[in-house]
Amino acid sequence: MKIAVIGTGYVGLTTGTCFAEMKHEVLCVDIDQKKIKNLKKGIIPIYEPGLEELVKKNHDSGRLNFTTDAKKAIDFAELVFSAVGTPQDKDHRADLQFVKEVAGTFGKYINSYKIFVNKSTVPVGTGDICEKIIRKHISDRSLTLDFDIVSNPEFLREGNAINDTLNPDRIVIGTKTSRAKEKMEELYRTATKNSPTIVSTNIRTAEIIKYASNAMLATRISFINELANFCEKCGGNIETVSKGIGLDKRIGPRFLNAGIGYGGSCLPKDVKALIQTGRDYDFDFHVIKSADEINEKQKSILFQKLITTLGPLEEKTIAIWGLSFKQNTDDMREAPSLTIIKKLQTEGAHIKAFDPAAIETAQKTIESFNITYTNTPEEAAKNTDALLILTDWEIFKKVDLKNLHKLMKNPLILDGRNIFTSEKVEKAGFTYLCIGRQNLKHTSKPKNRHYKNKTVIH
Ligand SMILES: NC(=O)c1ccc[n+]([C@@H]2O[C@H](COP(=O)([O-])OP(=O)(O)OC[C@H]3O[C@@H](n4cnc5c(N)ncnc54)[C@H](O)[C@@H]3O)[C@@H](O)[C@H]2O)c1
Repeated sequence: MKIAVIGTGYVGLTTGTCFAEMKHEVLCVDIDQKKIKNLKKGIIPIYEPGLEELVKKNHDSGRLNFTTDAKKAIDFAELVFSAVGTPQDKDHRADLQFVKEVAGTFGKYINSYKIFVNKSTVPVGTGDICEKIIRKHISDRSLTLDFDIVSNPEFLREGNAINDTLNPDRIVIGTKTSRAKEKMEELYRTATKNSPTIVSTNIRTAEIIKYASNAMLATRISFINELANFCEKCGGNIETVSKGIGLDKRIGPRFLNAGIGYGGSCLPKDVKALIQTGRDYDFDFHVIKSADEINEKQKSILFQKLITTLGPLEEKTIAIWGLSFKQNTDDMREAPSLTIIKKLQTEGAHIKAFDPAAIETAQKTIESFNITYTNTPEEAAKNTDALLILTDWEIFKKVDLKNLHKLMKNPLILDGRNIFTSEKVEKAGFTYLCIGRQNLKHTSKPKNRHYKNKTVIH
């Protein structure tokens, strides 16, 4: 099939490249001229394992091309995907300016039946907004043209984007007509390797499925983080709790790792946007609002442990391992590291930071005072008063702890991702604070005096 993808960012580039890999002809469009120029030379704008090679291979084959000319792409394609960003606006709503612009461009240039496929994460009702915009542009041109609108949300995970796109768990297709539904089903039969289950539904339901998925993942993370904080108070071990509940087939083990909260380009903004969409419909999302609030607090939990242990941070040097919001990506959007670094800077600490992929992004994102970046994890840790682990990159798990102990001024590790066992780190001579697995010696007694008189049944 001939496919145009408008918006060649994380989602657009991965989607377009994978469609080309599956032998479709793809033209990717972006308004960013530098990005398109670089892509034509095989330089990709993001860090995503395997993507650069796949872009090059498919570009060389002639099936994957790049342009800034949206008219050319719309003329060329039967399916026009919109994969532009939907960032948060000042009220935490999804900002639809880019989506509306692309709908307008489609309406301006469509010249025969085509399908407008919305891949961006958009609030329920956006399909109707796009349809209206496209109709208006067509009628302004005094034409009568047939087109369809499809909602086809994306579920890829950064760091695993190619595999997720070629082998998705499911494909969600929201349409109004059987013509569009059949075309989309045909596309995914030939654009995926694992014959995924296709959930065909109406446009509004498809739009809700995307937000509901992210809200569910966020809720699981906040749920386990809240339990981790409780474990610290009462002497439980959150990892064993996660294992114990995750083995229940009704619950399952994934997204039950305690840590310093979720970040990234999707969960935080989508959770907040869903809460706002609820308000627009006079609906209050109690569970999802709590997940969001817990996450905001969780991002500061390691900082609080640091202050409690070290006292004032002026004149202290703090090492940071991991800046991206998770491993295998350079994406720092809403990363917990941003919250923590800002607090450290405000308190006057000097920071030495290392990340295997995100330093360039960090240099553009983080204010430059009191922070230096290093080339290795060891260099970051050298002569520091504490080490904060903020991302669970594999490289950190392989560091020689005995050597690390020699390098640091004060052997204190605060592990926000629970990448080590307490035994291993303490054996190397460190004081080790992590999430939800403190030793019983650190726990407090129940404050509720009434509790003492109750019969406790074990
Ligand atoms: N990144 C993810 O992991 C992920 C996963 C699932 C869904 N999503 C959703 O997919 C959408 C895109 O996300 P992303 O991370 O790829 O965004 P991104 O910011 O990486 O990319 C968006 C691209 O669109 C381009 N653009 C903006 N306006 C344009 C226009 N009028 N014409 C052509 N190009 C234009 C920008 O220059 C940019 O390159 C968002 O709605 C996001 O929530 C993202």
